[in-house]
Amino acid sequence: MNFDDLMKMDVQRLYDMEKNLLDGLMFLSEKAQNPQLKQAFDMHRQETMGQCQRLEQIAQMQGFEPDGEKSNATRGLIKDTQDTVGDMEPSPMRDAALIGCAQKAEHMEIAAYGTARELAMQMGLNDASSLFQQTLDEEKNADMTLTQLAESGINRQAVEANRAYVR
Ligand SMILES: [Fe+2]
Repeated sequence: MNFDDLMKMDVQRLYDMEKNLLDGLMFLSEKAQNPQLKQAFDMHRQETMGQCQRLEQIAQMQGFEPDGEKSNATRGLIKDTQDTVGDMEPSPMRDAALIGCAQKAEHMEIAAYGTARELAMQMGLNDASSLFQQTLDEEKNADMTLTQLAESGINRQAVEANRAYVR
């Protein structure tokens, strides 16, 4: 196995990850109660379609198919998310749980794209490297938006609603 093989494996795994996240983000959007949160998931789903196209472009430039590897980590995260919120009634607490689940996926993507960008840079693949960077920026923004939504009230509402319920 050489660096080209490693790059191919990374790209194919990222592609599977993004394809799965298209479904994952649809699930999150359907479950979200807060309209801003729903909008954030919908917007990131749109971005994810573009991210798939970037991976197709990179695969084409490198002369391989984007399909081939499986991202077991992403499939696991989606399963965890379904297990966590599957039976929850719509509530601020469920929104807080959705944010937590989504951020785990975002952080994994940030790590994966950071690695891929670095690898591409080391291999002198400047076009691929800048495509990875564009996606990395979108993932970081999506993560920041979720943090802002959590801090701007969703988590507090969740705790308060839960307190009222306990009383
Ligand atoms: Fe993504």
